[in-house]
This record gives sequence, structure tokens and C-alpha cells, in this order.
Amino acid sequence: MCGIIGIVGQHDDVSDKLVEALARLEYRGYDSAGIATLQDQQTDRRRAAGKLSNLRALLAAEPVNGTCGIGHTRWATHGPPTTTNAHPHQSGPVTLVHNGIIENFRELRAELGQGGHVFETDTDTETIAHLIHHNLKAGHQPSEALALALGRLKGAFALAILIEGQDDMIMGARKGSPLVIGIGNDEMLLGSDALAVAPFTNRVIYLEEGDWCILRPDASEIYAEDGTAVERPVTIVQGSAAAAEKGNYRHFMQKEIYEQPETTARTIGAYVDALTQTVTLPGQNETIIDWASIQNLQIIACGTAYYAGCVAEYWFEQLAGIPVKSDIASEFRYREPALPAQGGLAIFISQSGETADTLAALRYCKQAGLKTAAVVNVATSSIARDVDFILPTLAGPEIGVASTKAFTAQLCALAACAIAAAKARLRIDRDTEVSLTNALNSVPRLISDAIALEDDIIELSKSLSKASDVLYLGRGPHYPIALEGALKLKEISYIHAEGFAAGELKHGPIALVEETTPIIFVAPDDHLFEKSLSNLEEVAARGGQIALISDHAGLEKAGDSPLLKLCIPACDPFVAPILAAIPIQMVAYHTAVEKGTDVDQPRNLAKSVTVE
Ligand code: AGP
Repeated sequence: MCGIIGIVGQHDDVSDKLVEALARLEYRGYDSAGIATLQDQQTDRRRAAGKLSNLRALLAAEPVNGTCGIGHTRWATHGPPTTTNAHPHQSGPVTLVHNGIIENFRELRAELGQGGHVFETDTDTETIAHLIHHNLKAGHQPSEALALALGRLKGAFALAILIEGQDDMIMGARKGSPLVIGIGNDEMLLGSDALAVAPFTNRVIYLEEGDWCILRPDASEIYAEDGTAVERPVTIVQGSAAAAEKGNYRHFMQKEIYEQPETTARTIGAYVDALTQTVTLPGQNETIIDWASIQNLQIIACGTAYYAGCVAEYWFEQLAGIPVKSDIASEFRYREPALPAQGGLAIFISQSGETADTLAALRYCKQAGLKTAAVVNVATSSIARDVDFILPTLAGPEIGVASTKAFTAQLCALAACAIAAAKARLRIDRDTEVSLTNALNSVPRLISDAIALEDDIIELSKSLSKASDVLYLGRGPHYPIALEGALKLKEISYIHAEGFAAGELKHGPIALVEETTPIIFVAPDDHLFEKSLSNLEEVAARGGQIALISDHAGLEKAGDSPLLKLCIPACDPFVAPILAAIPIQMVAYHTAVEKGTDVDQPRNLAKSVTVE
């Protein structure tokens, strides 16, 4: 994932400090880096593809000076990891670095192009620089130029910005991607997280959603999204760098839930070219799956990764018309499945890329002569090294044992593959591809909106924490989401939970429903909603305590039957399962916190199950 650093001081050149901070962000993964500084009203920029050592070598040969600067480590998403695509990006006096996805950058780019702006790259980031530049040319002061630009952006972003001629100022903004202010000695800093600024300070201000700021060496001005000046608390980040990585979150799991706008943006950016609104799978030539030749699909994984595969089964069959069998790895390999001789592809999903059962199933499929692909979060893992095609999730290191950001990144990667497969098999037209890629591009922003449900969920968790059994229900692609919700609750709160296909209730499970049984029903308003509503009424009639996860339209239709309504943002039904994952993750998290269990390292569990 990308990393951001900015430093505005009074005395020392910041070049070395910028690179030192980028080195602390290396754990996030990257493939190019760059810095820019301001000195004597001039901007100096140095960028290099590859590792930081290449940037260091460039700076040794062509040093930059100045007490104000920004830096960035980039993980290539749309656009290869070249120097041209490396941040910082510029337009006239504006130089900036960016994390996230700007969904409407194409329209902005066309508008600015008509105004005479010439673009060097295809990136959404460069468009932001031109937009601020445009506002400066219209006579606005830097802070107004930034505020006006932010009001035009749709999507998730974290920004650090230099304005030539303002040698003692850095501007920043965050929406959907984290950004912190570091309060140093005679200097102010901006960073992707507390770890980035940890070498220079332990006094940190966590900017909130929509905040933007103006930093000078001895002052920080913070503004809310509506432009009103606000104060944010200063946090003293205690202890080791590991503690800093948690930032102001209580647990890694909470931090990783909050990272999902950024991590889904990163992953989607590797599969969707937002400029052309097309799906462009990662890899080159022979390492790209020829979907037109695929006659059937095996999807194999364990645990949460398996549930991602179960959601993808709906997408591949409904969109691409490919027969799919999703399987639990530990069952698959001993079932001795009759695998198709021709046109078979097996996709293995694994956050760690080291799960023994999944690895064994992979080897079984290779022996059977199938083509193999892996949706993995660790590109150097055993599973990644063993397959024909790698489909990376760019979620960054996932520390919490309960998988959250890896799960939504897996769903994003699989959703993009389903669009690519449908397109290759001529099952969707160009308009549908545009519509589906735009829906996928809206996910980071919608996740950011869904996270706002947290206060309602904290209330729900107080009652859930006293339950001994919880049922999860869902239909269609939300059935695997119900299964995932039950797994999340079980594995971190130790409360027994079970997921069911809502239509299956009357075939037995409804006997479990009593006056006090809590039921989490995942049902956005889609073509199955009327059926789900009948199931909901069946349960309500027996006194079930229902918490309905739906969008506004669904909650309206449900009337007073649900005891609690959790409203997720309205979205294209195609991406609704990805959105629904957010509240079920937060339900499990806050219930576990209420119970006082070890959220990040639950009993009996390991982050990667490397034994059978
Ligand atoms: C997820 O919350 C669990 N910790 C577990 O089910 C996990 O998804 C499973 O063990 C698979 O791990 P992997 O994705 O690393 O292969």
C-alpha cells in the first residue's frame, strides 16, 4: 500500500528525514518512491522506480534541499511502476502525493483539459494537482483552492500538498484513507499513520473523515469538511513501533476494519483502469487468464477466504455463465473430485498464501492438469509461487487473526475477475462493463460511509454479548456473508453463531427461534428482497430479535418487524455483498470487545494455519 510523509520545519533540510520516514513505511509494500522539497520559492522533485535504494542513489547524485517537503511510496495500481507514474505529481506550482481512488477523475480531467491543462500521466492523482492549480489560477488563495478542489472530488483519498512560493506550508486532507499530523520540535509532519512520523515525534493528531489542514512549522489549522475550523485531540503514541501501527485504534482488527476504504481502493486500482472504465487484470501477456477458454471453475479455500469464494460463485455464474464449484480445501482434496479434463481453472483464495489445506488442494489440481490461479495477499507466499496466475489483493499486512480487510480485498479482486470473464465470453456489453467497473470503483467511498454505522453497532453489541446463540441469515450472495458473519462472531467473541440460507429456515432451523434469539439478517434491497422479507416475518412472528442489515429502501419496506435497523449505503447490487461485510465485521468486533476477549489473538487460533 502507498505511504505518505510531509515535513515543514524551520532549520534543517528535510530530504533525509523524508526518506527515513518512507523507510518506515516499507512494510506496507511499494514499487516506486519519490520526494519533493521547496526552497527559495522553487520545487525540486526526485522520483525512482523500484526500492528506496534507487531513490537514495538518485538523491546522492542530485540532492534536493529545503526545510519543507513531501514523500510517497507507491504500490502500482493503474499504470506500471515507472518513474513517470511515481508520486509526487505536479501541475504548475502544485506538487502532491495521494493515497486512494478518485472516482470522478475522468470527468474532472476532461473539464480541465478543455481549460488547457495538459496531463503527463493517466493517474487520478495528477488530476487533483491540476484541479488545485486551476483554482489558484482563478485567483483563490491556497486554502480556498484546496477546499474548492476537495468539494469536487468523489472517492477516497489522503493528500499531502506543496504550493510553490509557500516554502513554509504543507496542506493535507483525508477522506476514506487515514492521515495523521505529527507535532515535532519546530516542525509539523503529515503521515499515512503514526509509524511514518514515529522517528520524529510521539505527539499525533488523527485527522477525521473529511478533515483538511494547513501546517506551518509552529502551527496547524484543521478544518472539517464544511470548512469550519475544528480542534482535534493530541494523542501521545506510547511504546514500540508496533503500538504506533495500531494508531488510535484499540486493536489491529479495528484498525484493519477502518483501513478498508484504502485497501479496497488499492486492490481495485490494480484491476480496474478508471480512466477507460475497463477491467485490466494484473500481469503481462501469458500471465493473464484467457477467460474465453475457461469452461468451468473450481474455487477452493478455507474459512473466511472460502466465503469470499462462495460470493464469487454467484458472480461468475450470473455474469460470466461459467459453471462454478466452490469447496473447502480440507474436504476437496479428500473427496477425490472428478476434475474436468478441458478448460478447467482452479482459483485458490488465501490471505497468507501458506494455508496447508489450500496448498495441498492446489497441488492436487496441478497433478490433475488444471490451470491454477491464486487470490493472495502475500505475493511471495508458497501458494503464489505455485500457481500459473497471481491475482493479488493489496490489503497490506493483516495482523488481526480475524480476517477483515483481506476479505473485502479478495471480494474486489474476484468481482473484477468476474467482469473480465463476462467480457471475454461476450456475456456483457460495453455499457454493462462501464456500469460494473464504476460500481466497483465506488466501493471505497461506500465502505467509508458504512463504517459510520459503528455507534449503532456498539449499542447492538451490548445485548449480543449476553447471547449464547446467534443466527445469521442471508439469500443469494448474502448467504456466504451470513456464514462469514457467524464465523467472525464465533472466532473472536466465542459466542456460538450459525449462518443459514434464509430460504432454508423453514426446513428445520426455524425450530431454533425463540423469544430471545438474536438474528442478524443480511438483506439489501435486491431482486430477492421480497423473499427475504417473508423469511423475516416468519422469524419475527416467533419473537426473534432481528437486526436487519439493509439499505434505506430495504429498511423502509421492512417496517417495524426488525428490532434494530443497520443502514448500509445504497449501491449497485453487484457490490452489495462487499458493503454488507463491514457491519458484520463491526458486530463481531464490538461484541468481542464487550466480552473482553483477546480480539487480535483469539484463543486456539493462528493467523495462518500451516498444518493440516
Ligand atoms: C478468518 O477470520 C479466519 N482467521 C480463518 O478462517 C482464515 O480465513 C482461514 O484460516 C484461511 O486463511 P488464509 O486466507 O490465510 O488461507
